[in-house]
Amino acid sequence: MIKLDIHKSGIGESDLGKIRPEIMESFGRLVRRESEMMGWLDLPERLSKGDAELERVLGLAEEIRTSGSKVTLLVIGIGGSYLGARSFIEAAGADEGVEVLYAGNHMSNRELVKTYKIAVEAENLYVVVISKSGTTLEPALAFNMFEKLAHEKYGAEANKHIVAITDAHKGVLHDVAKAKNYGMFVVPDDIGGRYSIFTPVGMLPIAIACGVGTARELVDGAYEASRDLMGGEFGDNAAMQYAAVRNLFYRDNKKVELLASWEPSFGFAMEWWKQLFGESEGKDGKGLWVSSAMYSTDLHSLGQFVQDGSPILFETFVEFADIPGADELPLEASSGELDGLEYLDGKTLAYVQKSALEATKLAHARGNTPNISLVLPDSSAKSLGYFYYFMMLSCAISAYTLGVEPFDQPGVEMYKQEMFRILGK
Ligand code: PA5
Repeated sequence: MIKLDIHKSGIGESDLGKIRPEIMESFGRLVRRESEMMGWLDLPERLSKGDAELERVLGLAEEIRTSGSKVTLLVIGIGGSYLGARSFIEAAGADEGVEVLYAGNHMSNRELVKTYKIAVEAENLYVVVISKSGTTLEPALAFNMFEKLAHEKYGAEANKHIVAITDAHKGVLHDVAKAKNYGMFVVPDDIGGRYSIFTPVGMLPIAIACGVGTARELVDGAYEASRDLMGGEFGDNAAMQYAAVRNLFYRDNKKVELLASWEPSFGFAMEWWKQLFGESEGKDGKGLWVSSAMYSTDLHSLGQFVQDGSPILFETFVEFADIPGADELPLEASSGELDGLEYLDGKTLAYVQKSALEATKLAHARGNTPNISLVLPDSSAKSLGYFYYFMMLSCAISAYTLGVEPFDQPGVEMYKQEMFRILGK
């Protein structure tokens, strides 16, 4: 379902052929389930075949969605405990009856106060707090504030408005939620934060914000990806080839991958992607720096560097064959006006976007930045489900090929330890 186009990359079949054995070896490590953190590989299949925990998640989501007046969903979490949900909710759009707020994903007093003011006014507030460790400072501080608010608002009923998603057995959040009888779901032991979108971490906020049917479509897409990609051969496996291309660029001194999209609603999906690859690969002095650009906006800022600056980048375009909302805004014929746009008479904005995309690829490839494209059929929940699984699989293959462990994040832990030391914990 995802097509990889490498014809403007300068990489040819023979280059792919040379790296193929290494990619197959990395893929084999996933097939053999060499790490205990590979629970995400089979998850879409398990969910699709009927999973009691997923049904409990979707049941609660439906209950919340039909609980009366407009729902205000506050998602508290950071990194892998929030980016999956937010990226999908922003890409698909929350339903009209649901307002979604985020907290615990920053340390800004100003932002927190802004969110708090909205939550105070909300008639029907639900707080979903997500932390696998249950001790991360940003969500802990935010939860401290919003838990009190929920108790002030709902008194004895507050526990019906708070859901914790955390470790099955341990951690502060686990203990608090148990003691106060909050709703609880588990982050599985064998799935790390950035691979957790199909666990309750992603599925609960998504099902509340976008609906149970949409959440199921998302899983369908991921299951389709697992069927296509876990069995496929290198020659017809775009996830393996994407991992191959990234490693070839890296070896050719292209140390930065710039993911580029033309859809602003896809911005947080790029943030999710950056965390996935950045945390999985950036270790032991290795790894591509992962960056993103939103075109055409950034063509008028970063475009100069991409075209002409240090030759350290390659670009990965994420494209939708059916441009989202393409028919909704036909360009008005402008003949007779003085705006100089007659040459676009009868065209659509989607046509202009496609033309600008082709022009950008050509120009950047002629300059300092070769590019590849990942083409999704559309921006439906199913296609996005496919995209998330594709990226997680490709990332794990790519990291093993680079020679690093995809499923740990020692660098993140280091900053947490230093911060707690300075704060006197
Ligand atoms: O992907 C990861 O493992 C991290 O980004 C974590 O999700 C992030 O640090 C938050 O950790 P926790 O879920 O323990 O609060």
